[in-house]
Amino acid sequence: MTSLPLDQRLAAVRTAFTEQFGHEPEGVWRAPGRVNLIGEHTDYNDGFVLPFALEQSALVAASSRPDGVVRISSRDLGETHELAPHQVVPGSGGWQAYLAGTVWALRDSGAAVGGLDIMLSSDVPVGAGLSSSAAIECAVMAAALDLFALDVAPLERARLCQRAENVYVGAPTGLLDQAASTLCADGHALFLDCRSFASRQVPLPLAEAGLEILVLDTHTPHTHVDGEYAARRAACEQAAHILRVPALRDVDDLDGALARLDDDLLRRRVRHVVSENARVLETVDLATSGRLEAIAPLLDASHASMRDDFEITVATVDLAVETARGAGALGARMTGGGFGGCIIALCRAGQGDAVGREVARAFSEHDFTAPSWFVAHPSDGAGRVG
Ligand code: GLA
Repeated sequence: MTSLPLDQRLAAVRTAFTEQFGHEPEGVWRAPGRVNLIGEHTDYNDGFVLPFALEQSALVAASSRPDGVVRISSRDLGETHELAPHQVVPGSGGWQAYLAGTVWALRDSGAAVGGLDIMLSSDVPVGAGLSSSAAIECAVMAAALDLFALDVAPLERARLCQRAENVYVGAPTGLLDQAASTLCADGHALFLDCRSFASRQVPLPLAEAGLEILVLDTHTPHTHVDGEYAARRAACEQAAHILRVPALRDVDDLDGALARLDDDLLRRRVRHVVSENARVLETVDLATSGRLEAIAPLLDASHASMRDDFEITVATVDLAVETARGAGALGARMTGGGFGGCIIALCRAGQGDAVGREVARAFSEHDFTAPSWFVAHPSDGAGRVG
């Protein structure tokens, strides 16, 4: 996967805006995709996550309009939609829902957001579990707030974007993606407590530690993802209800909780969430004390837990993880919601590409679609870039 440098992408989205709308944009805003280093399906259980932002990002060139109309154009798709104020309401689908939904969430919160002309261009791979949708929402959020001179705290921005995704788009996701795209800092991972919303930047000096993180997209189609995601969430809520705790975050005694559940499926779902929360805390401790290499076994354990207990991995993802480890990766796991998408592999510096090639060879032997990959660089969250 190769991307154009940011300045070239910036110039292209500006030009596309001017050609489409007949005037210059007032600015350009960027918000990144993310990988989650560890902490999967913990966010909606009031638990812990540890994502970092990617260099790959959504760019929006935008201008305000006095009339409340929202015009949305995608440079990548060559499509434009015009929405009158009464049409910016939940229930309309398509890619434009991520942009219009963000404007709706802001307006619905009482923010005085007028009309907008928006040109979007993104190099976050779509459908890969790298939060291409959160990147769009958070870029539009940053643009709208600047254009209408609104002061909304970063965490609240992320929550409004999550609301766009939950209510307008209709996907029952947690806060992980939008928090990562909004709050992450260059060279760091973001430790977020999804109950208290306390967050902390955790340094990730990979190069100094002689390490790199490979992100490999299995290109597995995300069939039935929405239904499966909602089913996992419902199972967690059901288990919390039986255990009489507000959320699975509150399970302190795992063995005791498992003994109180009759249903083996619920037991395994609980074991994943509780053990994954513990792995996030351990990873944060290790990273904070500069022992990045020591997180590798936690990545492996997280993958096994997602595969065996939470049952959200698929054959391509499992093969990619096993092959990456066999090819010398120190640790590897699926990242994101599951049922396809990407894996991350912690590798020695300079080794990631060879690991990617080895996975490609294994995929070809199994007649799987060829994967693509890149080495990730923890980057900055959303902001104005032009
Ligand atoms: C998706 C959702 C997130 C989170 C992850 C799993 O990315 O959007 O809220 O639940 O899955 O960790």
